[in-house]
Amino acid sequence: MEVVVCKTKEEASKLAAEMVTAQVKKNPKTVLGLATGATPVLMYNEMAKAVKAKKVSYKQVKSWNLDEYVGLAGTHDQSYRYFMNENLFKKIDIQIKNTHVLNGLAKDLEKECAAYERQIKAAGGIDLQVLGIGSDGHIAFNEPGTSLKSRTSCVYLTPSTIKDNARLFFKGKEKEVPTRALSMGVGTICEAKKIVLLAFGENKQNAVKGCVEGPMTQFCTASALQAHNDCWIFCDEAAAKKLTLKKYYAWRSATKLGL
Ligand code: F6R
Repeated sequence: MEVVVCKTKEEASKLAAEMVTAQVKKNPKTVLGLATGATPVLMYNEMAKAVKAKKVSYKQVKSWNLDEYVGLAGTHDQSYRYFMNENLFKKIDIQIKNTHVLNGLAKDLEKECAAYERQIKAAGGIDLQVLGIGSDGHIAFNEPGTSLKSRTSCVYLTPSTIKDNARLFFKGKEKEVPTRALSMGVGTICEAKKIVLLAFGENKQNAVKGCVEGPMTQFCTASALQAHNDCWIFCDEAAAKKLTLKKYYAWRSATKLGL
C-alpha cells in the first residue's frame, strides 16, 4: 500500500488523475471501476481536462461503478447513474454504452448482482479501481461487519453513512436516503489489478488510520486493501493526520512517483 500525502485535496486529485490518465494511455481498452460521492469530483474534473487537451481518450474504455441505491431510477437526480453522467461521463469521450451502473430498480436484485459480476469477469476484470472511503471505513457500501471476501450484493447502510450521505446529498434530508444499496463486494474490489483510493478531510482521519495501519478487520472494510499489492491512497494532510508513519509513507510514495 502506498500513501501519497498532499497539502490539499486539489493537489491529491491532480496526482490521482495523472495515474488514471497514464493507465488509459498505456491501455486504451482499460476497464475502470468508478466511485461516486463528493471525493472523486475534483479528480474527475482533472480527467476531463486531460481529454479536452487531447492527452487521452476514453473511447474504448469500459467502466463499472461500485454501487447504486436500491429503489432509485438512473434518472433520479440522487442516483449514482445520474451522478456519473453529470460528473464524468458527459465530460469525457467515453461511450455511454460502455458504462455500467447497477440497476437499483431491478426486479430480482440477486440476479442483477450476479450478472454484474459475470460482466466484469467477461471484460477481463477491472484494471484500475477508483475508491472513496466512508467515515466508518467502508469501501463501496461495504459497511462494518461485512465479510472481506464479500461479492456484489444487496447491502444495508449504517445510520452514520445515511447521515453522511444526507449531509452531502439529498438536500440534507436523512429520511430520503435509501437504506439499501447494491454494492460490489470487498472481494470483488480487491480483485482489481490496481486501486486508487482518495480520502480528504478531517472526517476521514479515523477511516484512513484503520485502512492503512489498523488490523485487517471487517470492522473497517477498507483495511482489506492492505493485502493488495498495487494500492495507492491519495489523501490530504487532514485525512492523513492520525497515521503513525505519515512522513515515511509520504517520502516513499513521492520518491516512487518521482515528485
Ligand atoms: C461511492 C462509494 C462510497 C463513497 C464513500 C465516501 O460510490 O462507494 O464508498 O466513496 O461513502 O463518500 P464521499 O466521497 O461522499 O465522502
